[in-house]
Amino acid sequence: MSRILIKKARIIDPSQNLDGVKDILIEKGRIKALGDDLFESEAYIIEAKGFIACPSFVDLHVHLRDPGQEYKEDLKSGMQSAVAGGFTHLVCMPNTKPPVDSPEIAQYIIKKAESIGLCKVFPAGAITKGRKGQELVDFYQLKKAGCVAFTDDGSPLMDSGLMEKALKLTSQLGSFIMNHCEDDRLAYGHINEGKVSSMLGISSRPASAEDILIARDCILAYHTGGHIHIQHISSSLGLDIIRFFKEKGARITCEVNPYHLLFNEEELLTSYSNAKVNPPLREEKHRKALIEGLRDGTIDCIATDHAPHAPWEKTSLEKAMPGIIGLQLALPMMLKLVREEIISLSKMVELMSSSPARILGLEDCGSIKEGSRANLVIFDPEREWLLDEKTNFSKSKNTPLWGKVLKGKVLYTIFEGKVVYRDV
Ligand code: DOR
Repeated sequence: MSRILIKKARIIDPSQNLDGVKDILIEKGRIKALGDDLFESEAYIIEAKGFIACPSFVDLHVHLRDPGQEYKEDLKSGMQSAVAGGFTHLVCMPNTKPPVDSPEIAQYIIKKAESIGLCKVFPAGAITKGRKGQELVDFYQLKKAGCVAFTDDGSPLMDSGLMEKALKLTSQLGSFIMNHCEDDRLAYGHINEGKVSSMLGISSRPASAEDILIARDCILAYHTGGHIHIQHISSSLGLDIIRFFKEKGARITCEVNPYHLLFNEEELLTSYSNAKVNPPLREEKHRKALIEGLRDGTIDCIATDHAPHAPWEKTSLEKAMPGIIGLQLALPMMLKLVREEIISLSKMVELMSSSPARILGLEDCGSIKEGSRANLVIFDPEREWLLDEKTNFSKSKNTPLWGKVLKGKVLYTIFEGKVVYRDV
């Protein structure tokens, strides 16, 4: 059916300051009309009274593990997980096997994702060949092949000279660098340096490791005029540094992972390696500072850092691979902050949709205006659901939320005018 009529949804669209109950008519992939009592005889009707409709979500940071580690996730399961979580546009990280350091691998991802067709997947290219931190990739060729940004995520780019060149070259191409900021001479351990690491006697990764690289990258962005996007911020001083350099006019954006907003390092004592992530969950004072950064606008967007791993890779804290899945969990996690009146619903939508869309320069999403592409999500903020084998679309289940009842459920995800997910 090429027409969809959504009846009586509460539309939240911060891009046009809209919060009101309306009907939405979708035709040929676009929003044909918003109105009070729309009628269309030949349309698929969605009764949305009591539910929220908003622009679909955009995630700047996911690991889809394809090619090379399809036992953890592949493009299909990752995309299914995404649309079940309300996401229609994803940037996938290049730490695949082989990594995305050549046009061929970027094209493999783009073509496979297009043939699956559930949502849009944009590859991020590596900054350095093999993600080894030694030799820059050919940014021009990778951008031409479809890479939308560049990062060695999983590993930081430690060489300041290379970072300076990368910022200059990518900004000449109208692209940008994303960096995993943790100085690897300091961050060689497993969990945050703090009370829990001392209690358990486990080697650690101090916040100073993150702060040092954030400071270096902000300084280089300031001097080169290049755009740096700081990935998964977790440290309070790091956030202050970003705030300082943003005020100076440097081109800096940053993302936060919902887990860093909702959990602190003590979660390791109950969830063990399912709460192990890099950068690590830190002390409460860092979590509180991140919440403040959301409120005052220093943090630009939410990104899930969806990082699937197999059960045998999540054994002891010392042996486990870092990472937590997040695509289906971001909405219920963020709604918790809304219920606690930490942020408004409109701010949540901005952080998950219009703001990341703006960072990527996407015009096709982040808004529900007449004439715009129909990329939207309808969710019930009150519906409770259990995260288990039946509801999880990822191939992996590494999250502290496994087996928990969550509040807030996506009912429909619409991508370019097609229903790509429906809660039945
Ligand atoms: O915890 C993490 N896992 N942090 C990263 O930066 C990489 C990711 C992964 O690839 O598993």
